[in-house]
Amino acid sequence: MPTSASIEGRDEPAVIRARGLIKTFGHVAALQGVDLELYGGEVVALLGDNGAGKSTLTKCLCGVYQPDAGELELAGRPVQLRSIRDAEAYGISVVYQDLALAPDLTVLENIFLGHELLRTGLLGRAGALARGEMAQRADAALQALGIDLPSVRIPVSELSGGQRQAVAIARATMWTRAGILMDEPTAALGTRQSDIVANLITATAARGLGVMVISHDLPRVMEIATRVIVLRHGRVVLDTPAQGLSRRDVVDAMVGYAEEVHG
Ligand SMILES: Nc1ncnc2c1ncn2[C@@H]1O[C@H](COP(=O)(O)OP(=O)(O)OP(=O)(O)O)[C@@H](O)[C@H]1O
Ligand SMILES: [Mg+2]
Repeated sequence: MPTSASIEGRDEPAVIRARGLIKTFGHVAALQGVDLELYGGEVVALLGDNGAGKSTLTKCLCGVYQPDAGELELAGRPVQLRSIRDAEAYGISVVYQDLALAPDLTVLENIFLGHELLRTGLLGRAGALARGEMAQRADAALQALGIDLPSVRIPVSELSGGQRQAVAIARATMWTRAGILMDEPTAALGTRQSDIVANLITATAARGLGVMVISHDLPRVMEIATRVIVLRHGRVVLDTPAQGLSRRDVVDAMVGYAEEVHG
């Protein structure tokens, strides 16, 4: 089956290409040989029931987990990611379901955590100028998301769940050069913020980045997706352009209805 990329005639390598990913936890086969591509400019909705393997797959694609078997290529180069920092070095960032912000650090410190400006600016001697610039960039990123915080200098532990999620999303969109993986980015957000995130995802893809988004909000995610991948029991059971795809088709793939009926 031709991929969406070959249909559209793209020549550049996929931002992410995975082949035969396997990941087991004890007796649980979370991923049973997953093939997947994410191209620049697309929004891939990664769908599936609870326990289908979506979060595990995402974590294998960004270095949080090391798959037991399988290959990963980023921008056409074979890689082995040992940590999320490795993935970030290749221009891939992730927004988790279970958020990975440091609660005791401020919003600003979280946004710049692990990035060059932090070392040369915040912790460096000539830090004052960089610090002001950082605060401005962080403010701008949060404002673009429509998030009003009392200050970027308060610790993350003092934010609501939705505000924390917004900070994580702002952080990802600020730093990413190639691809963003989002695991339920709007789960803790209200309607207005969810709309803003949806627009942001579309805008991020329009900048040429690949975005993969996991969501249980099928109507909303199918509005912004250009391609849909459905996982069931750790396998890809559907990988198809979103255009013309009905919600019914997706749900059938998620629960395996078509298979049960047709054999
Ligand atoms: N760290 C872990 N240790 C043991 N088992 C795990 C671990 N992480 C995931 N699993 C198991 O792997 C399977 C896939 O889990 P995963 O979290 O990837 O599903 P998911 O598709 O993200 O589900 P949800 O929609 O509920 O978030 C499940 O059976 C889960 O219990
Ligand atoms: Mg999950």
